Amino acid sequence: MRWGAGRLRASRVLIGHSEDNALDEARSLVLHALHLPARLPAPFAQARLLDVEIAAICALIERRIAERVPAAYLIGSAEFAGLRLRSDARALVPRSPIAELIENGFQPWLGRRTVTRVLDLCCGGGSIAIGMAVHRPDWQVDGLDLSADALSLAAENRALHRLESRLRLIQSDLFSALKDEVYELIVSNPPYITDAEYAAMPGEYRHEPKLGLTSGADGCDATLRILRDAPRHLAEQGLLIVEVGEAERALKRLLPDLAMDWIEFSVGQMGVFALEARDLREGHARVVQLCAERAL
Ligand SMILES: C[S@@+](CC[C@H](N)C(=O)[O-])C[C@H]1O[C@@H](n2cnc3c(N)ncnc32)[C@H](O)[C@@H]1O
Repeated sequence: MRWGAGRLRASRVLIGHSEDNALDEARSLVLHALHLPARLPAPFAQARLLDVEIAAICALIERRIAERVPAAYLIGSAEFAGLRLRSDARALVPRSPIAELIENGFQPWLGRRTVTRVLDLCCGGGSIAIGMAVHRPDWQVDGLDLSADALSLAAENRALHRLESRLRLIQSDLFSALKDEVYELIVSNPPYITDAEYAAMPGEYRHEPKLGLTSGADGCDATLRILRDAPRHLAEQGLLIVEVGEAERALKRLLPDLAMDWIEFSVGQMGVFALEARDLREGHARVVQLCAERAL
């Protein structure tokens, strides 16, 4: 693990898709190469490795470095909101800060309002939808994505957590396949990287589906479409939560009067806003105008 962490750091791989430091990432890769579980009894730390095991560890870490494959894809899983999920190149590695909101019940934003139906719009491999369904057994969850690949991974994760009866998966271009569905809570982590940012991103991102990352020249295209179409699917007292990352600044410039509440996480602001349905309806005309200007 010490050797692996040193190699990862010296090779300047991007750490951050699942673990946030090289030592933890080396630890997961080493344990995966040895087919051992993440939590090991202390005596295992004293054990000596066989040559064949050392070779397997070295090969995995060298592949991580040479090909810049995210560790979650090499391992085949990632942790999200306290849950282990399958992860591979069919969808982005789950890493949204929305995990923290799921674990604290979306408080204080949801308050005491009654929630029965929720939507994870752009669900990818299903992390947010599954997190919500597991943490809130009283919620009926829909997970929606355009990508059939991502949805097939989400279906595997749904089966892993035995959520077939409470999590419906839908293939759709944003809201287009939904008819009269109305949700008290819509959560979304849509694509929001600008074309220029994508061109300059580290190699790890090239292994992830581009459809999940880029969203026009300023990263706001998908979010503007969501803001335009959400009112039809949000309950009167509904709440919309959207992650836009670095596109926060561009979005604020486009919609200075929209009452987006930028959420403070334990590590600070992460480009995630909460917006009440009534406030969205109030600022809706400007959103419609922006979408028309962009031919969205
Ligand atoms: C940033 S990823 C988020 C995935 C997952 N929610 C997560 O947090 O890991 C964005 C997702 O949006 C999906 N997507 C992109 N354009 C879409 C569209 N027009 N309609 C529905 N889903 C779309 C991509 O396939 C991708 O899975």
